[in-house]
Amino acid sequence: MFLKNKLFALLIISVLGHINQNVYAQSKPSELNTEQKIDALLALMTVEEKVGQLNLYNGFWNVTGPAPEHGGAATKYKHLKNGWVGAMLNVRGTEEVNKVQRIAVEESRLGIPLLIGFDVIHGYKTLSPIPLAESASWDLKAIEASARIAAIEASSAGINWTFAPMVDVSRDARWGRVMEGAGEDPFLGSLIAIARVNGFQGDDLTDANTIAACAKHFAGYGFAEAGKEYNTVDVGLSTLYNTILPPFKAAQEAGVKTFMNSFNDLNGIPVTASEFLQRDILKNGWDFNGFVVSDWASMNELIAWGVAKDKKEAAKLAITAGSDMDMEGHVYIKALADLINEGTVDVQLLNDAVRRILRVKYELGLFDNPYRYGNKRDEEKRTGSQSHRESVLDMAKKSIVLLKNEGDLLPLKKKGQRIALIGDLANDKSSPLGSWRLASDDETAVSVLEGMQKYKGNTLNFSNGPEVFKGTSTFLKELDINTTDYSGFEEAVETAKNADVVVMVLGEHGFQSGEGRSRTNLELPGLQQELLQKVYEVNQNIVLVLNNGRPLAITWAAEHIPAIVEAWQLGTETGNAVAQVLYGDYNPSGKLPMTFPRNVGQMPIYYNYKNTGRPIDKDNNVFYSHYSDVDKTPLFVFGHGLSYTTFSYSNLSVSNTYKTNKEITVSFDVKNAGEVTGKEVAQLYIRDLVGSVSRPVKELKGFELVELEAGESKRITIKLTEKELGFYNNKQEFKVESGDFKIFVGGSSETVLEADIEL
Ligand code: NOJ
Repeated sequence: MFLKNKLFALLIISVLGHINQNVYAQSKPSELNTEQKIDALLALMTVEEKVGQLNLYNGFWNVTGPAPEHGGAATKYKHLKNGWVGAMLNVRGTEEVNKVQRIAVEESRLGIPLLIGFDVIHGYKTLSPIPLAESASWDLKAIEASARIAAIEASSAGINWTFAPMVDVSRDARWGRVMEGAGEDPFLGSLIAIARVNGFQGDDLTDANTIAACAKHFAGYGFAEAGKEYNTVDVGLSTLYNTILPPFKAAQEAGVKTFMNSFNDLNGIPVTASEFLQRDILKNGWDFNGFVVSDWASMNELIAWGVAKDKKEAAKLAITAGSDMDMEGHVYIKALADLINEGTVDVQLLNDAVRRILRVKYELGLFDNPYRYGNKRDEEKRTGSQSHRESVLDMAKKSIVLLKNEGDLLPLKKKGQRIALIGDLANDKSSPLGSWRLASDDETAVSVLEGMQKYKGNTLNFSNGPEVFKGTSTFLKELDINTTDYSGFEEAVETAKNADVVVMVLGEHGFQSGEGRSRTNLELPGLQQELLQKVYEVNQNIVLVLNNGRPLAITWAAEHIPAIVEAWQLGTETGNAVAQVLYGDYNPSGKLPMTFPRNVGQMPIYYNYKNTGRPIDKDNNVFYSHYSDVDKTPLFVFGHGLSYTTFSYSNLSVSNTYKTNKEITVSFDVKNAGEVTGKEVAQLYIRDLVGSVSRPVKELKGFELVELEAGESKRITIKLTEKELGFYNNKQEFKVESGDFKIFVGGSSETVLEADIEL
């Protein structure tokens, strides 16, 4: 109310002298549409106030990037009062948010409300599994529900904008941020991008429990050379259009309100300065009318990249390229007003950026009530609520992938067993929260030990074994991995000796993946591989529960250990989810969204590779595409995941009516051939056999989750249209090329049925 009146009063005052220019001269604010309101507001703003809308400051305590070089708290408060701040990040909790919002709304001249951004990546306080893990569920409804819960909790704590979803496709597990994405596939990645955008933004953005989403990082970040963080990216346009861009385009079509650009350069141009990406493709090509935020200080980093000599040149490059908002770069606030005032940068570029930001603020309903997000009562009631815990438990169970289960070692018997539980990570209540967990407290996850203790019928002996890391773990510092201290090693081996089954929880700590966590070694960190082998010497009945934020090269384990469960970092309810799967109260159904390599040298490795001119060894000589020292196939393929039952596929039929209605209908039967109810992700792939551009050997183009009782069958039908059959040729035109195609069906990318069609 206050704000409306204040703006209205200001507008009325202002129009007295500008009757012809201001739309408020003819109408009341309530009769104006959003664009007219923006016109009116723009007419009131000074250049400095406009630049202020483009300025995104970090808050006062948490940081999620290198410490800013300028702008202590005093400067930030002053700038808030001056109306020189458009948004803030890392300010959270009703009280803190309202404190800064009040300054912007009640103390600045125009009272324009702030956007309050935060990395709500896989939950706010109640944490869901890391995004890569959620993606392993292939369950789009569950993924959407998880983002919805995150939005409900975050919005009740004052946040109205999340920096998620990350939709970067990546084929390189060395890159630590694969934990934050949906894996290696553009088709699955696009559907997950849509689910997450819908979950965060809901049906109505003006609802107080929906928040604006942000598709990031536009674009190419997941292709950083050698998996090294923030590195250069050099990819051809075919890969850009067919692999990298599709999830971004899907997010845009789903109505995502903001995009974040990325730290990398793309073919020589740092992305923050890329007109090609931000204007030609995103704003002009896809008609995106939200705004683009830079990544943390990436405008400033144009200087280190060597494309701008100072902040002024950086600001000019960024605004020209279409980067609308400056996150902690202090570049626009320092230099943009001068550039406009001296006529070096066209004020229309500034106006366009401000308009885009104001539009999102209007769409969020912030002008009607800037305090709608953040309400102490809701915050207390909703963050960490029991019902949210139940939902993230459900998501956690769906995210688990059973990689191997020889001799049906799993599920564990519920009675009369001596179980040894081993591993530092089994007793860790922080690591399962993952890397993006700023708003959740340390030690708030249910550990695997706690989860297992709930099953009382067996004897459970826990032994910690050696520590995974030394010292403390934080988001801001590298972990000090323990490679020398063997304390606890012998005791763990002793505990294993007398057990019927040994459950070993090994892998990466939650802070070993995520931003700034690239690795050149994908094996079990520290002393864990050695521990696994020593335990194996005394007891081979081992169930390995993996914790990790990326595919690992666990070749020895895959050969020797009978049962392997991929349990990622599963969030707040980790221990309960793992225990319920190990004891068979939940039958696992997850499927890998990323290929697991045999060793790090295979990176990048992915299922939708090109055949090459020499795919196989024809003459028993070396001249074909392979490695001399390791099999070229993956350790575990994309789409792989077992169940406590088995599924069989049969009766593939394809009805090709493409010539008449541009459709192919693929049908097949899936049968639960085992003895317990289970869920399968039935997958459909295609291969375009001859194209104007070389095409992948397989491309995922459809899937369906199907739950079947023992012995039950279901006929599945999936339609393929131009959208699935076409691709971008080298003129960047999306076309379906006529000719021969193959259709493949099965429970992983190693499909079991195939058919030929001609278009
Ligand atoms: C840098 C990260 O790349 C980005 O994803 C994140 O949203 C920002 N920091 C803000 O924390």
